[in-house]
Amino acid sequence: MSKSPIITGLDIGSDTIKILSVRENPKTEELEVVFFDKINSAGVQKGRVGSPKEVAEKISRILEKIPKNQDRIEHVFANINGSKIQIVPNRGLISVSRADQKICQEDIDRILEETQNINLPSNREVFDIFPKSWILDGESELKKPLGLQGVRLELEAFLLSIFALDVENIIEAATEAGLEVENVLPSPLAASNAVLDRRQKELGVAVLDIGACTSGLTVYEEGNLMDLAIFPVGSANITNDIAIGLKTEIDIAERIKREFSSCGDEKKTKKNKIEIGSKSVSVNIKGYKKSDLEKEEVKKNYLDFSQKQVKKIIEARVDEIFELAQKELKKIGRQELLPAGIVLTGGGVKLPGIVDVSKKILKLPSRIGYAQGFVGLDKDCSLATVCGLIIESRKGEPSRNQFFSGPKGGGPLDRIKKVFKAFIP
Ligand SMILES: Nc1ncnc2c1ncn2[C@@H]1O[C@H](COP(=O)(O)OP(=O)(O)OP(=O)(O)O)[C@@H](O)[C@H]1O
Ligand SMILES: [Mg+2]
Repeated sequence: MSKSPIITGLDIGSDTIKILSVRENPKTEELEVVFFDKINSAGVQKGRVGSPKEVAEKISRILEKIPKNQDRIEHVFANINGSKIQIVPNRGLISVSRADQKICQEDIDRILEETQNINLPSNREVFDIFPKSWILDGESELKKPLGLQGVRLELEAFLLSIFALDVENIIEAATEAGLEVENVLPSPLAASNAVLDRRQKELGVAVLDIGACTSGLTVYEEGNLMDLAIFPVGSANITNDIAIGLKTEIDIAERIKREFSSCGDEKKTKKNKIEIGSKSVSVNIKGYKKSDLEKEEVKKNYLDFSQKQVKKIIEARVDEIFELAQKELKKIGRQELLPAGIVLTGGGVKLPGIVDVSKKILKLPSRIGYAQGFVGLDKDCSLATVCGLIIESRKGEPSRNQFFSGPKGGGPLDRIKKVFKAFIP
């Protein structure tokens, strides 16, 4: 029996670049991990690829780790991220074309094209379109108008607008590392692909993906996307705040965050010492002997702070992130109104107590979300985006940004690829 094809997700994160390849087991339909690795990121600023060269080098470093006897990775499904990604509501209207007034595929294509016709600054592109509701002769909320009879077809949709340069930079980074980008999907949509099921999307649900430098929020209702927002703040801001607050180095602050810290009602760790290289940093959790501090060596390596103090620093930032989410939910009239609650993903939600903070601020059922259906992968909430890219790729249907053609002809990704190719020497 021939092996099923390899599907690969490439998540270019601000903190970590992750590559995951899977193959579907034809019998069980489970996704078996063929390859996974990650590396500390470089060249990514607040989710956006700023230096394709640096990103390409990091990707190449990961690809070098693929065992020689294993199939090479050639095509990837990549993420796009950053607060420049926006969704804009818009409406389209057409007259049904056929004499018998039955809606055909040509009508659907035409209205999708019509609806994505908006004026954007020249460096922006409509990259995708998410139908919200179809209205046929004034009757709304029709899910699939194909084949129905009518005269006047309207569509309410959200348009996803991006900076074309951001996509070009992603393609450039991947191409330089020898990979072809099959398609691109915003990180928050990928993360929600991995952690939500259809029922939750029908009921009404949100996902908050707290990464290092961004936090992405998506909201679904009646099975459709109803909001997407990316805030330029994440868990790396917490690390920076600790470094400033305790007047210590970033690496030490990061370790304090991961090994000592918590928020909400959660109490963390019995440890009172972490080893950093040859340095041993003692952390004053339970109090310390004043006499020890007389010693020069101890003084140099001693960070004098209480867990309460760190908690205060952390909570200010965590609260800020959830308050941004709350403001967005309020803006779309869904504050405290999502029956399936909110699912938290991304490396930033590994902070103990974060679920309680979410419940307290958003007043919604809250839980941590992990990707389902991957065999041989650690249960790790920071892998939701890379897993969601693979899930998108497996949906089988050509993604909207490939099939719907804009006024300039061809799908937006194809157009950007063409522009990009024209610049390659
Ligand atoms: N145990 C932990 N406790 C607290 N924070 C953690 C823990 N482990 C990882 N993190 C934080 O998670 C963040 C990385 O998460 P993730 O991999 O989701 O980000 P990213 O995708 O690289 O960034 P972005 O999506 O913003 O571009 C880092 O800021 C890191 O400090
Ligand atoms: Mg991320």
